[in-house]
Amino acid sequence: MSLPSSELRASVTSRRGVIGTGAGLAVGALAGGAAYGLMREEMPAAHPAGPAVPDGQVPFRGVHQAGIVTPAQDRMHFVALDVITEDGEQLRALLTAWTLAAERMTYGAEAVPGGSVGGGPYRVPADTGEALDLPPSNLTITIGYGPSLFDRFGLAHRKPAGLRELPGFRGDDLDPAACGGDIAIQACADDPQVAVHAVRNLIRLGFGVVAGRWSQLGFGRTSSTSTSQATPRNLFGFKDGTANIKAEDAAALARHVWVAAEDVPGAAEWMTGGSYLVARRIRMHIEVWDRTHLQEQQDVIGRGKLAGEPLGQKAEFDAINFSAKRTDGEPAIPLASHVRLAHADNLDGIKLLRRGYNFTDGSDGQGHLNAGLFFIAFMRDAHAQFVPMQRALAARDLLNEYIEHTGSAVFACPPGLSESQDWGAQLFG
Ligand code: HEM
Repeated sequence: MSLPSSELRASVTSRRGVIGTGAGLAVGALAGGAAYGLMREEMPAAHPAGPAVPDGQVPFRGVHQAGIVTPAQDRMHFVALDVITEDGEQLRALLTAWTLAAERMTYGAEAVPGGSVGGGPYRVPADTGEALDLPPSNLTITIGYGPSLFDRFGLAHRKPAGLRELPGFRGDDLDPAACGGDIAIQACADDPQVAVHAVRNLIRLGFGVVAGRWSQLGFGRTSSTSTSQATPRNLFGFKDGTANIKAEDAAALARHVWVAAEDVPGAAEWMTGGSYLVARRIRMHIEVWDRTHLQEQQDVIGRGKLAGEPLGQKAEFDAINFSAKRTDGEPAIPLASHVRLAHADNLDGIKLLRRGYNFTDGSDGQGHLNAGLFFIAFMRDAHAQFVPMQRALAARDLLNEYIEHTGSAVFACPPGLSESQDWGAQLFG
């Protein structure tokens, strides 16, 4: 993959540098090639030698989308959108405009040339401005498409067979207002303002074409996706992500995360190299948990709280031994503990790449924090991986006493873009 050099990068209208003089992009002017050309104008050319990416930037283009196996940042803004136009051309043009805006923002540029003030005093600013002065902050923008999108716009034949709504699970308490969506945008960054700015400006570009359905802010990643990262902790205080698939494990990624050509024959072949994203908003009843004694907490998870070791072992990355016994002869890792039920050995080899975030969304009006885990996982087949795993957990996980699934969605995330590609052409073909 070729990457823009830091020199070329410096020539882009940077949020922190000189504000460009290009005319702002009128929201209504999305359709047609003119808008694309205008936005592409200030993009850095591809650098044939593929030099190192400047610190604080994650390449936008590549074989796979950024934001899946690239190291998880600490902040996230996730939004699910409904497409409100009936005109497929408008949607296609928006996806094209989004590609360029997303790419610009990951370099630290304003969403479109002209940005916040370059259009002059009598134009509406083309960038909302709250990320001016902020560095790229490792921003990644990942797009996904929901099953409902393919019922319209002549896209039925492009729908991957694996993109189907998830079934209900035992114990679900889903709020319809926090479920589904035609399009998902996951923006992750080291700075929450950069992530929020990215989502806001993409929605702004889509005025009249898309409308926000639900969104979620996340702080504190709950998973490591690379062996270079220390394992973070979730709001129950436990290390989360120890046994996750890591970016360095190419064989596991090919087997469990990336959609292969044989999975998506025919016109759905565009999904090859993509991944399915399952999002579950999981409320955690932290007040109940916080009154639970340590041994009970550890038995629920199946790991120690301090080091994160599998119960019966010593260190975090020691192999799990499900046959280990306590001194009283009981299994060291209880039969209904979370890690025992979710472990590949007990699920015919199934694994997922987890990439979730903690959240607190105010209080619930009954004296409790509305807090939890915004579970995000990427996988090759949601119905062959997430569904059986969640069924096993929903049936008997000891954790169920302390959690409640309140939101749910599944999206097909296409593969990454080559230098000449954009999301519109990729989806519509
Ligand atoms: C609020 C809800 C949840 C909490 C607090 C939670 C917490 C944890 C913790 C602390 C671990 C052990 C560390 C690790 O290996 O990552 C773990 C492991 C795991 N969790 Fe969860 N989890 C939650 C929901 C889920 C859901 C919904 C799924 C999938 C349907 C899931 C799948 C897994 C898997 C696959 C593992 C690794 C098991 C292994 O191979 O050892 N978790 N989780």
